[in-house]
Amino acid sequence: MKTPVLIVNLKQYDQSLGRNSIKFAEIAKKMSDKHNVSVVIAPPAPMIDDTSSICLTMSQHIDPYEPGAHTGSLLAKHVKELGCIGTIINHSEKRISYENIEKCVELCKKHRLISVVCAKDNKEAGELAALKPDFIAVEPPELIGGDICVTTKPEVIVESVKAVSDVSPQTKVLCGAGVKHRDDVEKAIELGSQGILVASGVVKADDIENAMEDLVMGML
Ligand code: G3P
Repeated sequence: MKTPVLIVNLKQYDQSLGRNSIKFAEIAKKMSDKHNVSVVIAPPAPMIDDTSSICLTMSQHIDPYEPGAHTGSLLAKHVKELGCIGTIINHSEKRISYENIEKCVELCKKHRLISVVCAKDNKEAGELAALKPDFIAVEPPELIGGDICVTTKPEVIVESVKAVSDVSPQTKVLCGAGVKHRDDVEKAIELGSQGILVASGVVKADDIENAMEDLVMGML
């Protein structure tokens, strides 16, 4: 997966459930092909198998386990087998302990999944960089799902990039929260982000294709 990357987290919105995820996958594939950029979707877990045969797909979460008696869990080995290229870990809406983040990053390395570890600020970004994930995605929790973009706090992105590169130069930084328009993406990339995590700006858009394409244009 090349950068910059657009990761569309479908969360568990009504618009994403069941077969609805397929529509997002088809648009992501179309945008990737048309503009030669990486567009990834992270659908609700039951749809991973379907979407991964259409477009680049990540899991929204994994649990820190290998196969065994773990009722209700989602395993790195399983999402890999179902075609995921990677997974989000420690999303603001699915926080886990530092120890479990460490285990999940190790499982990603073992099962050859791209790890995208979320951090709430630059301080946490630096701490989590010690685990050497592939990506750290910084998302101020208070801006998630709203209309104020993370780029209105440029220091969050700039300081996260610095904190991460000081500890783990190979780990790339993404950002997200409140991203809605091409200008937001352009600004984030200018500030050192290597891509975007977005949800509501695409999932709740009246015209999904238009919304996704606008963000992709910001990466070109
Ligand atoms: O994972 C991305 C997400 O938390 C950002 O959400 O709705 O602010 O784009 P949103």
